[in-house]
Amino acid sequence: MALLPILRYPDPRLHKVAKPVQAVDARITALIADMLETMYDASGIGLAATQVDVHERLVVIDVSEGRNEPQVFINPEIVWASDEKAVGDEGCLSVPGIYDGVERSTAVRVQALDGEGRLRTVEAEGLLAICLQHELDHLKGKVFVEYLSPLKRNRIKTKLVKQQKEEARG
Ligand code: NI
Repeated sequence: MALLPILRYPDPRLHKVAKPVQAVDARITALIADMLETMYDASGIGLAATQVDVHERLVVIDVSEGRNEPQVFINPEIVWASDEKAVGDEGCLSVPGIYDGVERSTAVRVQALDGEGRLRTVEAEGLLAICLQHELDHLKGKVFVEYLSPLKRNRIKTKLVKQQKEEARG
């Protein structure tokens, strides 16, 4: 297993559209293990393959208190989303230190393959519903800051670019 570097906004690779996973094989199994390790190491609740520069439809999530209930979603599709929506604060491992309100459906139904390649349907509400919508957006090349006003988004962009320059200088 290995920690994978996480792309940071405004890296243009975060806007690539992911392609379906062709086969749940040894390569994908290894990628899942690395993505879970990377997500736990970064204290995140979700990570999309897009964020580690792999442009295939794969997401890992763990919204449990104990951080011991990993969920794998391969080729996930939202097959139903509630009309009821709510605004909740979101953050993202690709947008470190930034949290802001995004309106999402409060419940969704997602169809996906699990880590063993079995098709399953998940009914999600609460944090899992938000997380699924956020992570599935990543697979479409969409980062949550794109829901914010252009003014806020530009401020975030400037702040993160400055941060990354400072880090690069050491
Ligand atoms: Ni994210």
